[in-house]
Amino acid sequence: MISYPSRKDLIQRVYDHKQEHIFAFWDRLSDAGKSALLDDAESIDFDLLTRLYTQAGQSTPVTMGFEPAPYIPIPSGAEELRRFDSARAAGAGVIRRGAVAAFVVAGGQGSRLGFDGPKGLFGVGSVSGKSLFQIHAEKILQSSKKYGTSIPWLIMTSRANHEDTVRYLASRRYFGLDERDVYIFPQSMIPSLDAGGRLILESPSAIFKNPDGHGGSLGALAESGTLAAMRERGIEIISYFQVDNPLVSIIDPVFIGFHEQGGADISSKGLMKAYPSEKIGVFVRFDDGTIGVVEYSDLPEHLQNLRDTDGRLRFCMGSIAIHLFSVDFLEKITGGSALSLPFHIARKKIMSHTASGPAEIEGFKFEKFVFDALPLTEKNIVLEIIREDEFAPVKNPSGVDSVESARELMTALFRRWLDGRGIPIPPRVKRLEISPLLALEAADVPPSIKVPDTENVYLE
Ligand code: UD1
Repeated sequence: MISYPSRKDLIQRVYDHKQEHIFAFWDRLSDAGKSALLDDAESIDFDLLTRLYTQAGQSTPVTMGFEPAPYIPIPSGAEELRRFDSARAAGAGVIRRGAVAAFVVAGGQGSRLGFDGPKGLFGVGSVSGKSLFQIHAEKILQSSKKYGTSIPWLIMTSRANHEDTVRYLASRRYFGLDERDVYIFPQSMIPSLDAGGRLILESPSAIFKNPDGHGGSLGALAESGTLAAMRERGIEIISYFQVDNPLVSIIDPVFIGFHEQGGADISSKGLMKAYPSEKIGVFVRFDDGTIGVVEYSDLPEHLQNLRDTDGRLRFCMGSIAIHLFSVDFLEKITGGSALSLPFHIARKKIMSHTASGPAEIEGFKFEKFVFDALPLTEKNIVLEIIREDEFAPVKNPSGVDSVESARELMTALFRRWLDGRGIPIPPRVKRLEISPLLALEAADVPPSIKVPDTENVYLE
């Protein structure tokens, strides 16, 4: 057994859990390296990892029966339109009284996109080249102006991208937001395991860990003190979204209005799945009456393909990870005993540090999903939205859900805005971008605006 007198108990714990291979390079470590490795080990919940590894060997992802969840559809008749108008007015009132904060989860690793850095720095503006973070920041800034308030922006990062995110936003002066309105905090990390249930070394003095999933955001909100700060500021609703969607309507009065009028703990936006195997989770009502999301990878193929008599997919309402959380609800579930959302287990390739250098191995990553908070609610609402208006995720370098598809969707949306306002678009225009600082929605576009006769048009 290795020796480090002041950390005897910890070392014993590591050996008791048969994880002593983490000390493979012990003799070569400096004192600082030894101490860093022991600190890393100290933060590990070995019993939890043992439980998760046992679970990884079983495959029972969804144990309860479920049916499709109810939702508020896109309005069609006059009465539904009136309901939407009333929600919009109620939501605008909530925003105006300064009760809404925006919250982006940006702790993910963006590895699918092949972009080396925080995904929020990725340039997505089809003409301006603006980064995802800039587009989000400008929407928040413009919403603050429009409603005469200051909307705080909460950003969850992770260990791998926290410093870069903080530095980037500071260097760009928070894109015009007041620094005091920007709250950046990292999420927790959890070790991955190899196929034999052993911890993995990232370097001789560090254990490989991954961010604990976007479900970790609720605990991180509370533990970082940000939830308390929001309460202090009079925030009642936190508007949650993912960093990768440049079309997201961050401060949406209609959505906020439905949430407020319905007294919901969580409200979620949903859209019609485009095809059965589309990689989005679906909203369901479990047999115990609670609402939840079943992730695409957990929805058996026969249920993905199941259709109602009218030909529509039975599980048609897809989750795009846009939610409103009431602060009361978040305080309830994160206060007192720790919030225990379940971990989901994924088999992934992981880089491991071995005696002969770095090597890719098969392992298990553990992540919490934010929508697992849905079954904890007493009241929630699912609101259907129009996909083309609000969803353009940037996940892949090309093809489906790529930067190119997102840019095309942005151009198409801005065209519809101008068409709807009767503003002519010269035929030469190929790419069109409207700055959030000019308009957040079609109704904001100044009717006097002229679109120049060039291929790439940026209206600001
Ligand atoms: C996710 C959803 C899927 C939804 C789709 C919409 C899950 C499991 N899947 O899929 O249902 O339809 O988005 O685009 O939710 N993140 C963190 N910390 C983490 C992990 C992720 O902050 O530890 C953030 C990422 O930065 C990103 C977001 O969560 O903003 C989504 O992560 P990603 O891995 O891209 O989710 P998907 O599998 O694409």
